[in-house]
Amino acid sequence: MNQSPYVFQKTSDQLERDRLQLIEGYHDPFTRRRLCQTGLAPTWNCVEVGPGAGSIMRWMARKVGPQGQVTAVELNPRFIADTTLPNVTLIHGDISRAQLPADSFHLAHSRFTFIHTPRYKAALKNIFQALQPGGWLVLEEPDFYVARVVTGPKLLSQSVQRINEAIEHMFLNAGLDPAFGMTLPGHLQKLGFNNLTVENATPVVKGGSPMAMIMQRSANLLGWQYLATGRATKTDLTRYTRFAEDPRCWAIYHGTVAVMAQKPKNRSPKS
Ligand SMILES: C[S@@+](CC[C@H](N)C(=O)[O-])C[C@H]1O[C@@H](n2cnc3c(N)ncnc32)[C@H](O)[C@@H]1O
Repeated sequence: MNQSPYVFQKTSDQLERDRLQLIEGYHDPFTRRRLCQTGLAPTWNCVEVGPGAGSIMRWMARKVGPQGQVTAVELNPRFIADTTLPNVTLIHGDISRAQLPADSFHLAHSRFTFIHTPRYKAALKNIFQALQPGGWLVLEEPDFYVARVVTGPKLLSQSVQRINEAIEHMFLNAGLDPAFGMTLPGHLQKLGFNNLTVENATPVVKGGSPMAMIMQRSANLLGWQYLATGRATKTDLTRYTRFAEDPRCWAIYHGTVAVMAQKPKNRSPKS
């Protein structure tokens, strides 16, 4: 199994920040609603895993207030390294190896990070041990197997289909699961979490919409990795961009599976 580094690790700062901020613009309202549902309140001690450009980390810091704490664990903290918020602590590292104090956190959150984490089992176990009894975990991860063209010109649609296959194979070739989000409920249940709430969104969106633009930016940054799978050509990449920008073209780009789960009282992680 080839365990490659995080696919966006070497992307240009400006383009990647732009892509991450598009993700935040679209997904943050859903994420904030889920985090509020856990009871997030002043004085809470939280972990944000893979904060990216940091909007949820900063929002959490405001919600927990000066008596609360947010620990951000980030493999590549290039967009949050200058954070000066007094109640935010940055751990520069991999969540599967990060040293987090046991039984300490009220809430842990991560979005679109575990699909990129080959050692996700160690990472989930690490979070489980770090949560205090009764603490909450909110995870949001994609499912790329549901990606499909809904409406669009034939040639553009065929290219989008091939790029979707290339995305799947990029993950598979790296030893990662393109539908990782779907596996979350089972993983969390096995680890000993309970009170699971599962949401699964597969939005049908048009060209030019935020999700289409996020995926177009990803294709700009990762195009060479898509081509390296041998499943798509440069022409497919060009047509993918045209499809993603055309408001007459409709597609599902990916699903998002969100799970809210609680660490039971008086439980250690199962091995
Ligand atoms: C796709 S971005 C998502 C950023 C942010 N969570 C969001 O949804 O807006 C994934 C982030 O996770 C970080 N990351 C990837 N693997 C990680 C790991 N094993 N441990 C900690 N951070 C990781 C990346 O550096 C990147 O900032």
